[in-house]
Amino acid sequence: MDLILFGPPGAGKGTQAQRLFAAYGTPQISTGDILRQAVKAGTPLGLQARPLMETGKLVPDGLVIGIVQERLQRPDCREGFVLDGFPRTVAQAEALDAMLATLGRRIDHVLSLEVPLETVVQRLSGRRSCPKDGRVYHVTEASPRSPGVCDVCGTALTHRPDDQEDVVRARQVTYRRDTEPVKAFYGRRGILRVVDGTGTLDEVFGRIQSVLGRR
Ligand code: AP5
Repeated sequence: MDLILFGPPGAGKGTQAQRLFAAYGTPQISTGDILRQAVKAGTPLGLQARPLMETGKLVPDGLVIGIVQERLQRPDCREGFVLDGFPRTVAQAEALDAMLATLGRRIDHVLSLEVPLETVVQRLSGRRSCPKDGRVYHVTEASPRSPGVCDVCGTALTHRPDDQEDVVRARQVTYRRDTEPVKAFYGRRGILRVVDGTGTLDEVFGRIQSVLGRR
């Protein structure tokens, strides 16, 4: 199952990708997580990405396409994958088609999580993330067992710098301008499925399972 989770910042893509991994064993490929690790490590990629991410802009297509191309060739992707945060431009979607064609594969489903803006803002203001393993929490909706600490690795949770209100707004503008056209790209191909992203984590996951088939 080769899958794309699509939707605006804060729609729940990362959260549901982690659930899909638990239920279906399909690895999550989050370009945001990969870029944040590069920023943390201070690599040349991270140094280039950091100012763009901190202001809600997109990292250049060529850089993220290279990241995904390398990641898709790893053995854990042989049986399928869940892309989270990629593609974000039509150029990225076209490049993904080309790289999958060389592997004799193509995207099976694009699930678009639809959530109103006010819900997104509420979700992002309460989000806390584990800087070590990327696990996602929310102070009230998906709280860790011990406040402020990752359930799995015990690392102190952080509030992402790009979850400040002004950057959230900039990310929404970027999404509408650069990323929303990707939805029409997959809609024309007949593989886009709109999923109501409101309600509890379990409710949203149940809707995703109804599209994919339960396991
Ligand atoms: P990225 O990390 O991909 O951020 P994003 O797309 O803006 O998405 P988010 O991670 O903010 O949200 P999400 O939909 O995953 O929601 P989550 O599950 O965490 O990208 C960051 C930056 O990197 C970009 O701005 C860009 O600069 C760069 N970048 C990345 N990819 C790129 C690309 N392809 N091209 C160019 N640049 C790229 O949920 C949010 C919160 O809500 C959590 O607290 C969660 O617990 C809570 N929540 C989730 N579901 C529910 C629910 N049903 N009910 C209640 N709370 C919920």
